Amino acid sequence: MSGMNYVSVIDHPLAQVALTQLRNKRTKRSAFARAARQAALLLVTQATSGLQVKKGRVQTPLGFAPGFKLLRSLVVMPVLRAGLSLVEPVLELLPDDCEVCVHHVGLERNEKTAKARRYYPKKLRKIRPDQVVLLVDPMLATGGSARNAIEQIIAAGGRHIILICIVAAPEGIRAVQARLNLPIVTLAIDSHLNKYKYIVPGLGDFGDRLYGTI
Ligand code: PRP
Ligand code: URA
Repeated sequence: MSGMNYVSVIDHPLAQVALTQLRNKRTKRSAFARAARQAALLLVTQATSGLQVKKGRVQTPLGFAPGFKLLRSLVVMPVLRAGLSLVEPVLELLPDDCEVCVHHVGLERNEKTAKARRYYPKKLRKIRPDQVVLLVDPMLATGGSARNAIEQIIAAGGRHIILICIVAAPEGIRAVQARLNLPIVTLAIDSHLNKYKYIVPGLGDFGDRLYGTI
């Protein structure tokens, strides 16, 4: 498929085990939330593997060693609600001396049309073109939500966007990459969308399973 060269699928055993927990319809809410955190840690590790670093040195108790600092500041951008579950693990891995901020995007799909509607009206704060935006949303289905978020990021000034999701559908990847050929990091590319625009086999409704609102 064209554009797929920018998609990384993480086949690390721990990632695939966490994904299995998420997919299993018998997984309880708390175990689902834990597996989502585990998935997020592995996804952000891969998603940030290309970040530029400044080299220096650090004094240890016994001498000097090479040291590194992240060169660019980051924006973590969760798409509410489901994306919220990925924020804390992502922040946990980012260093203390790196400028990081979290901007929220509130979108929900209409149950009949699957079209994403913006319901969190706060305008995004300005994003500098040198900042790296980690857009986090566990499900990439039609791609409508991700495209809406990407438009908001671009309107706010962002230029470097990495999309982190847990499961992606080929339709969503195509829709996003038709707008911007950005890197996508995921644990799986599934088969297709059903007539209700849910990912098959997928894992069901992520937000509902995470928050127990089924
Ligand atoms: C889900 C998911 C994505 C969106 C993906 O959110 O978290 O944001 O659907 O679908 P798309 O690619 O077709 O736009 P949902 O609208 O169900 O809201 P929620 O996170 O509040 O449950
Ligand atoms: N949103 C979800 O939570 N799951 C899907 O399969 C599609 C959109």
